[in-house]
Amino acid sequence: MLNNKKYFETNLKRWNELVEINAKSKSYDLPGFLEGNSSLFPIEVEEIGNVKGKTLLHLQCHFGMDTLSWARLGAKVTGVDFSNKAIELAKDLSNRLNIPARFILSNVYDIPEVLEEKFDIVFTSYGTICWLPDLVQWAQIISDCLNPGGIFYIIDGHPFGFIIDEKKNPFNVGFNYFSEGKPVFFDENAAYADPLADLKNQATFEWDHPMSEIINSLIKANLEIEFLHEFPFTFFSIHPDMKKREDGYWEFINYEYTVPMMFSIKTHKKF
Ligand SMILES: C[S@@+](CC[C@H](N)C(=O)[O-])C[C@H]1O[C@@H](n2cnc3c(N)ncnc32)[C@H](O)[C@@H]1O
Repeated sequence: MLNNKKYFETNLKRWNELVEINAKSKSYDLPGFLEGNSSLFPIEVEEIGNVKGKTLLHLQCHFGMDTLSWARLGAKVTGVDFSNKAIELAKDLSNRLNIPARFILSNVYDIPEVLEEKFDIVFTSYGTICWLPDLVQWAQIISDCLNPGGIFYIIDGHPFGFIIDEKKNPFNVGFNYFSEGKPVFFDENAAYADPLADLKNQATFEWDHPMSEIINSLIKANLEIEFLHEFPFTFFSIHPDMKKREDGYWEFINYEYTVPMMFSIKTHKKF
């Protein structure tokens, strides 16, 4: 059994390779972003509310498009990611667009060693906790980064969606929901933003965290839950039997039932 350090090293290689692929992909639409488009979806913008003048820490910020989009809405932003390629590009975009932002290279679990200050908002979105083995530690780090009353908001793939095996068509269960902290090993050459990409770094280790684990880790870290929302669509084509909607999310076709594919949670740090 590999330890977490080995899992992170394996995942980091893939993430570093994905940065350039994603930056060139149609789905990230970097040219549109450079021209002023926001990369944020209306759901998180509406659910978080006004960010003007607030300090915002963006965890797993990738190459910073969402972080800089929050800055365009008036937030004072800090982005953190463990991919050196992602942080390099994020800094470059911030300079090129003249949008003030701070980007820090760090594993989420090492944040206490690199950041002392407290924030009004901690934000993380769309493909984050599946890369993290320990949610109790994650939630405590988030709580420690927040001012009393500060907001933590997450929007991400629903753990139910993770158990779907894309190779089993139609829709079929192929993974454990109750994964008991064990990572799932994937070996794939296609990239989520570019199915035709031929990645050299194919291996990843990912964790599915049941909804109870997500919620209980937040409660344990003194974060009061304002809401949990579940959605029958998601942010990438997790299964071949899906089509892109006009709003950019993906939904199942040829499937008569609705299932939860994405969730959002808003919390406040208790005083
Ligand atoms: C799918 S992206 C996040 C989604 C982001 N909203 C975007 O722009 O698409 C996942 C990010 O998590 C980062 N990541 C994965 N594991 C991490 C860890 N343990 N610590 C910090 N960053 C990590 C990757 O480098 C990648 O940039």
